[in-house]
Amino acid sequence: MMRAAQVFWILSAVVYVGTGHPHKRQAEQDTAVDGSDNSVSLVTSANKEFAFRFYRKLAAQSDYQGKNIFYSPSSVSVALAALSVGARGETHRQLFRGLGFSSPQVTQAHVDQAFRMILANKTSREDIKEGTAVFVQNLFKPHPEFLDVLKESYLADGFTVDFTQSADSANTINKYVADKTNGKIDKLVESLDPSTIMYLLSYIYYKGTWATPFNPKLTRDDMFNVEETNQVPVKMMNMEDDFDTYYDQAINTSVLHLPFNSSYSMLLMLPDDMATLEDAISPAHVTKWLKWMKSRRHDIYVPKFSIKTSYKLNNVLTEMGMTDMFGPQADLSGIKEGQRLAVSEVVHQATLDVDESGATAAAATGIGITLLSFRHIPVLKFDRPFMVIITERNTENMLFMGKIVNPNI
Ligand SMILES: *[C@@H]1O[C@H](CO)[C@@H](O)[C@H](O)[C@H]1NC(C)=O
Ligand SMILES: *[C@@H]1O[C@H](CO)[C@@H](O)[C@H](O)[C@H]1NC(C)=O
Ligand SMILES: *[C@@H]1O[C@H](CO)[C@@H](O)[C@H](O)[C@H]1NC(C)=O
Repeated sequence: MMRAAQVFWILSAVVYVGTGHPHKRQAEQDTAVDGSDNSVSLVTSANKEFAFRFYRKLAAQSDYQGKNIFYSPSSVSVALAALSVGARGETHRQLFRGLGFSSPQVTQAHVDQAFRMILANKTSREDIKEGTAVFVQNLFKPHPEFLDVLKESYLADGFTVDFTQSADSANTINKYVADKTNGKIDKLVESLDPSTIMYLLSYIYYKGTWATPFNPKLTRDDMFNVEETNQVPVKMMNMEDDFDTYYDQAINTSVLHLPFNSSYSMLLMLPDDMATLEDAISPAHVTKWLKWMKSRRHDIYVPKFSIKTSYKLNNVLTEMGMTDMFGPQADLSGIKEGQRLAVSEVVHQATLDVDESGATAAAATGIGITLLSFRHIPVLKFDRPFMVIITERNTENMLFMGKIVNPNI
């Protein structure tokens, strides 16, 4: 039996170390939650807006020009929201503004509640694993309320480690992450600053199976046009079938909808001009595409590939206005008062594999695809840079987003 599968995994992590000044500002967090439905939907729509703002900042970094981009908006928002639980004063305001929780109706308690729903919704699923963990220096005692909120709303696993033994503690974190990502990311942490007192991380792992798999027998060697003058070899998968597509004339972009055998989907966007698409793309576009796409027969070509990305996000987050947490101004007194706490590093790693999957796939007998046809069947060939989004169709919760400029690295 044929299978088409995709495996993605991703991490983002936040490290606090002992630098910066202690601040003792008043807590601004509300404890009561009211009007919660509305607030939860404000939070989830803020998460969507954040995904695209974050993408544009990431893509604009000089280090990542002309490179593949792939990350999980969901994982980054969860990690930063969990951090905001311990932030106060201006540090907290910056995190909230940066995450797009700018409506005065949205309080920390609403954010916590929204993430609890988002995370709890996935605990019973086999295809998605998403969660957080916090590693705490053994003699450091954070406020119990901080750890309680992480545990209850962010479903955090908690551990005590000895960061002065930096190799051992890095190992402990790496093992945890490797376990949560089925062994795929086995070295999130290269080395840890011995002055680390807490390490907070979020992970997401998703394995989707195409609703209609590709036939491996139709996968061919082909070329992918990284640029006009730069071609690289790829394995190109092929299928002729009915597909939902949308041509967005305003931005000259073809959109292909490939559903998984669940309520999740991959959207692949093939623009005439990548910059036009990258500048324009927004949650409203995704809503429009999902709503207006039409099913018709297409001959599609999608490369089979595996990519891996690794980001240090300090600059991106700083440019998005989340500056204070990295320096002496940091106010993380919600984690513990009277300590010089600041964030030293925010890192994010992700991988994406797209294929027809496994040995069993090779034994498949065809899906009755004919290559010779006198009818005109439109071809949609992803043989030049394209964007991809993995989203839930009803909530449009954006699990992953990226740009493939070279499927070969
Ligand atoms: C959680 O799942 C329920 C039922 O599947 C769905 O109606 C709801 O929108 C989901 N909530 C979130 C926040 O994803
Ligand atoms: C879309 O393509 C048409 C035809 O090539 C061109 O005239 C138009 O300027 C393009 N629009 C955008 C937004 O790039
Ligand atoms: C999707 O396919 C996978 C792999 O065959 C299978 O394990 C899973 O149960 C399927 N899910 C649904 C909702 O059919």
